[in-house]
Amino acid sequence: MFSVPLPLASGEREEILKIVGDILKNHAANRENLIPILQQVQAKLGYLPGPAMEKIAAASGVPAVDLYGLATFYNQFRLHPPGKHRVNVCMGTACYMAGGRIALDSFERRLKIKEGETTPDRNFSLERVACVGCCTMAPVVVVDDKVEGRVTPTRVDGILLECGASNGAAGEAPAAENTPAGREQAEGAQRS
Ligand code: FES
Repeated sequence: MFSVPLPLASGEREEILKIVGDILKNHAANRENLIPILQQVQAKLGYLPGPAMEKIAAASGVPAVDLYGLATFYNQFRLHPPGKHRVNVCMGTACYMAGGRIALDSFERRLKIKEGETTPDRNFSLERVACVGCCTMAPVVVVDDKVEGRVTPTRVDGILLECGASNGAAGEAPAAENTPAGREQAEGAQRS
């Protein structure tokens, strides 16, 4: 799904280009290697940001539109960064029949994003998922690792507030800790 790219934090573009440059040093940028290159970029950054796609397209000579076509063909690739909190709305049959679509609409309205997208502050990303195995609690939403059952629109605010929701207003810069550099810094601090 194509949508407006999220704003990057200060210095993030340079960081992305450096990471992609390092990956391209180890892989010839030809058509055969595009999937492994995209996989490595996503493993490092959590998604495939625009500057990374542009750099890979330029290095490989593959038009950017074709590269995006490749990335959107495979479910494994994300064009939006994963949010600090990941909201997964179950759309398996039981949940769908019990109001999963209504729950998804409610999250979309509340977060002001569509499924597959991330709030500009990168606090939340919203996905639809297949059955998560808790059908008796339908409709089910999994926020991070927490399963929420019988989710009605009136519960959406409460669920998000438990995660410390902000509204992710358009144009809001990503929180530093939600960028690849910020995450690496936090992980380094935890290790030391
Ligand atoms: S269909 Fe949603 S948990 Fe099974």
